[in-house]
Amino acid sequence: MCPQYTGKTCGWTGELLHHSLAGMTPSTARPVDLSLSSLWMPFTNNRAFKAAPRLLSRAEGMFYHDVDGRQIVDGISGLWCVNAGHGRREIVDAIAHAAGELDFAPPFQMGHPLSFQLAQQLAELLPTGLDRVFFTNSGSEAVDTALKIALAYHRSRGEPQRTCFIGRQRGYHGVGFGGISVGGIAPNRQAFEAQLLPHIDHLAHTHDLARNAYSRGQPMHGAEFADDLERIVTARGAHTIAAVIIEPVAGSTGVLVPPRGYLERLRSLCDTHGILLIFDEVITGFGRTGSAFGATTFGVTPDMMTLAKGITNGAVPMGAVCAARAIHDAIVDSAAPGIEFFHGYTYSGHPLAAAAGLATLALYESDALFARAAALAPVLERAVHAVRGAAHVIDVRNIGMVGAIELASRDGAVGARAGAVFMECYRRGILIRQTGETIAIAPPLIISEAQIDEIVSTVHDVLATVA
Ligand SMILES: Cc1ncc(COP(=O)(O)O)c(C=O)c1O
Repeated sequence: MCPQYTGKTCGWTGELLHHSLAGMTPSTARPVDLSLSSLWMPFTNNRAFKAAPRLLSRAEGMFYHDVDGRQIVDGISGLWCVNAGHGRREIVDAIAHAAGELDFAPPFQMGHPLSFQLAQQLAELLPTGLDRVFFTNSGSEAVDTALKIALAYHRSRGEPQRTCFIGRQRGYHGVGFGGISVGGIAPNRQAFEAQLLPHIDHLAHTHDLARNAYSRGQPMHGAEFADDLERIVTARGAHTIAAVIIEPVAGSTGVLVPPRGYLERLRSLCDTHGILLIFDEVITGFGRTGSAFGATTFGVTPDMMTLAKGITNGAVPMGAVCAARAIHDAIVDSAAPGIEFFHGYTYSGHPLAAAAGLATLALYESDALFARAAALAPVLERAVHAVRGAAHVIDVRNIGMVGAIELASRDGAVGARAGAVFMECYRRGILIRQTGETIAIAPPLIISEAQIDEIVSTVHDVLATVA
């Protein structure tokens, strides 16, 4: 137990605390009696964290500042979301203005202009045909919403028996029951196994170190992994399958870039069998891969896309499902008079989120951040691939403004080595992300070339220090 932040059991001495407070503005100062016990932290080793906390208090541009006034370079856009950099004045002002004008508007049987405006602007940015937008508050909600839309679509077309969903091994689609059912991360499912959605299958993942290690951009080998869909179609019958959902680039399970031809093949197989294809672009959306979406970078258009994170630059929670007009029309036009789709959230298209989204889209455009990501991608590629040959490294891969360094695991302790790298990088003032035994680097798209070098060279140096 660690009831008091200031207690000796937490490793925080009075001296440290005094020093910390001296360097901070009153708004960021940590109250002396701050207790960490009440907050049950998400996806966190709570006991270890509370014994040695890492508390951020402020952020600006490429940097976080912690409660001790230390500056930390953000090498992972917060959590893959702050694509335009931190503390952007235009977003802050838009949120403040919205809060003053319209704090809340009911989204059921009522509306407000900002959410319509954001949907319209998103539709202009989205791949042709995907121009109907349903707002949620998170990526998880967007995924569950997309799965429901898929069922409603097939039902509206007289194919109600299409109820199976196909995910992919090593897929991450958030934490709703739908998302963990189609997701392919064992620990996220294990405790809930008995209550997962029925009628789910998983495609094989595409990670193939034997053939593709040290690929730059899309790996050469593995288009045929898409044919795994045929195995499932044969076993279940195409007429039972509603949708396939995948991340164009799997982010949370180690940055798995789609092999050349893979997405095209999956698209074509889905078309052949009347199966909807959903791209979960919660991470790949908004410039991460070097254009607006993974779909645009890879030139493959899904039937639906889920978005979140970068939609508001992380500033206000928001997610969205972008559906092909034909899907929307099939559901809405075929419904009996009344509500067409029995689904929605109190905060769907919340005024503050919509305002943040509009300001974010404007920034992406005015700063040409997607083009900047494409221009910087070769710089990040060169930097991360220079880590090849460093201690423990078994693969380096990259796409757009994402780089990944995979390490060999310690015996019986998958993730421990990358975890040690994460901790030491943080100690040295660099925030990266550890996913399993992979170190992911996905900085805000405003990053400079020198900062790319600083992040990667710190990781490189740290690799020499971990056992
Ligand atoms: C691909 C993908 N889908 C869904 C989610 C879930 O989003 P959220 O945490 O906003 O619910 C994430 C989160 O990282 C994600 O990476």
